[in-house]
Amino acid sequence: MAGFSDRVLAIQPTGVRKMFDMAGDDVISFGLGEPDFQPPEVAIDAMCKAMRDGHNKYTTTAGLPALRKRIAEDWASVQPDLDEGNVCMTMSGTNALLCCSLATLNPGDNILLPEPYFPLYAPDATLCGAEPRFYPCLFENEFVPLIETLESLVDENTKVILYNFPSNPTGATITVEQRDELLEFARRHDLWIISDEVYDRIIYGSEHVSFLGTGYDKLLLVNSFSKTFAMTGWRIGYILSTNLDAMQQLIKLQYYVTACSNDAMQYAVLAAFEEANDYPAQMTKEFQERRDLICSRLNAMPGVSCHIPEGAFYVFPKVEVPGMNSEEVAIELLKGGVLCSPGSAFGESGEGHLRFAYTIGRSDISLGMDKVEAVLSKLRDAS
Ligand SMILES: Cc1ncc(COP(=O)(O)O)c(C=O)c1O
Repeated sequence: MAGFSDRVLAIQPTGVRKMFDMAGDDVISFGLGEPDFQPPEVAIDAMCKAMRDGHNKYTTTAGLPALRKRIAEDWASVQPDLDEGNVCMTMSGTNALLCCSLATLNPGDNILLPEPYFPLYAPDATLCGAEPRFYPCLFENEFVPLIETLESLVDENTKVILYNFPSNPTGATITVEQRDELLEFARRHDLWIISDEVYDRIIYGSEHVSFLGTGYDKLLLVNSFSKTFAMTGWRIGYILSTNLDAMQQLIKLQYYVTACSNDAMQYAVLAAFEEANDYPAQMTKEFQERRDLICSRLNAMPGVSCHIPEGAFYVFPKVEVPGMNSEEVAIELLKGGVLCSPGSAFGESGEGHLRFAYTIGRSDISLGMDKVEAVLSKLRDAS
């Protein structure tokens, strides 16, 4: 095709939307990776008030100092010496991830990415002219990569490794010991770590294990308020690093990408922190009930097995239907009235799995699982 850059022609539309395009209005949808909650009322009120108060202008590129300071304080139990200089507001995790790739990758470099993956990691690398290399996170290893696998992929052109815990699409989390091994791997090869921790506040039972607070200086932490405060449509997130040289480069870059984040919205997020900081915990309580329900239903189905995810709001069961791949199974489920994502939409290592987002109410989950059970049982009888 003439007239377009090689970089834009090198990326493809995301496969994750394919099922949505095929779905009718009456399906039970386990497809959406966003909380089915609204942002906290206090945040909505604060946004309206901020706009009325005249906060409708450009802000500094790094963003509202009071919000950045509040974010720094929020991480104080993990990393006590942070202040607003360690935080740059972005217009989403998506924006933050692209900036981190742009700031660290040159053409000819490669980046190690998890697979199954959140689908924009590889295109971000491609847009930078870098090579995405995938490290499998397999069911048999609780979706945590093996160090020997990472060692087999790394070479002198590897500049970055991206970690994503809790993970989309698997819901996997890591222990402190696993985190330390992953960190040591990065240290051995002098890699930047981009740590996508957008689900850090949706954790069941245990504490979130962050790459922050480890003393590793080549760390760029990506976060977002999309999931934390159910603000997916607002588009606000941040990059945090203890490395002030990195912050300087990222803030310079962010100016050319979006100039700054949204003025009034930063006041709204600040209000959410101050007056609704327990909001993610409230959502998580409900997500946990749903997780328990969907996992027990799935694990009771012949040919289906899932780990109980410790974070995020996805479950990624292994689903065996002889002679069918995950996309074919997902299409049959769609015909039976249930939308979910085929594991192959998240890369080759996702084949043999389906992703269910439990971002719908419990009665819909039960109804949806009845349908899944009926379709899978028919498919297996026919095979
Ligand atoms: C793992 C992961 N990272 C980043 C994002 C981006 O979030 P946003 O751009 O809404 O901040 C998502 C959204 O689904 C995600 O699942």
